[in-house]
Amino acid sequence: MTKIAVIVGATREGRMTDKLATWAVQEVGKKAEVETLDLRDYPMPFFNEPISPRYNPERQAVPEVQKWLDKVAEFDAYVVVTPEYNRSITGVLKNAIDVLDYQMENKPVALVAHGSTGGAQAVANLRMALPGVGAVALPQALFFTDQVGAAIDEAGVLKAELQDNPYGPQANLTTQVESLVKFAEALKAVRG
Ligand SMILES: Cc1cc2nc3c(=O)[nH]c(=O)nc-3n(C[C@H](O)[C@H](O)[C@H](O)COP(=O)(O)O)c2cc1C
Repeated sequence: MTKIAVIVGATREGRMTDKLATWAVQEVGKKAEVETLDLRDYPMPFFNEPISPRYNPERQAVPEVQKWLDKVAEFDAYVVVTPEYNRSITGVLKNAIDVLDYQMENKPVALVAHGSTGGAQAVANLRMALPGVGAVALPQALFFTDQVGAAIDEAGVLKAELQDNPYGPQANLTTQVESLVKFAEALKAVRG
């Protein structure tokens, strides 16, 4: 079965991103083996190695980073859930990408974003950063335009009117996850 990680891209106290991720995890779980990777569980120093990870065959990452690398390597595909901070992704998420070398190489990533304006610039920034580590961002993305705190409860359940809307986030998420599973299967052949 396809193994998919849902990455929680914000760590601040009182964050909303974890609710969005919990909602996504439930949908992914219908189609694949799913695990939540909460960046709170992977505290890492800011990237400060002398050589770019992908150009360093002798690389010896510090244990906190190696723990993250080993975990990321386990999956066939990813859902990255991020808020928009200052027209970009969070610093903690960017750092978690910067430390990767080949763990996401030729693996697909679904993009789920939110923010005061739906997270479009966070998604744009992910589209620039992810190819740097060899990851393949899906062509579509989910811009969660409703306020997460009001739209999703603690259990990750989306409020009813948004579930029923054929153009709403639930329908979009279902499409994203179906696409992600298909890309995950297809890219296995690319990885050989
Ligand atoms: C430091 C900071 C910068 C933000 N910048 C933006 C922004 O540029 N665009 C936007 O749409 N929302 C912005 N927001 C709003 C957040 O996306 C929104 O509060 C979201 O809930 C944050 O996710 P979190 O609750 O998981 O931290 C910003 C929030 C913070 C804390």
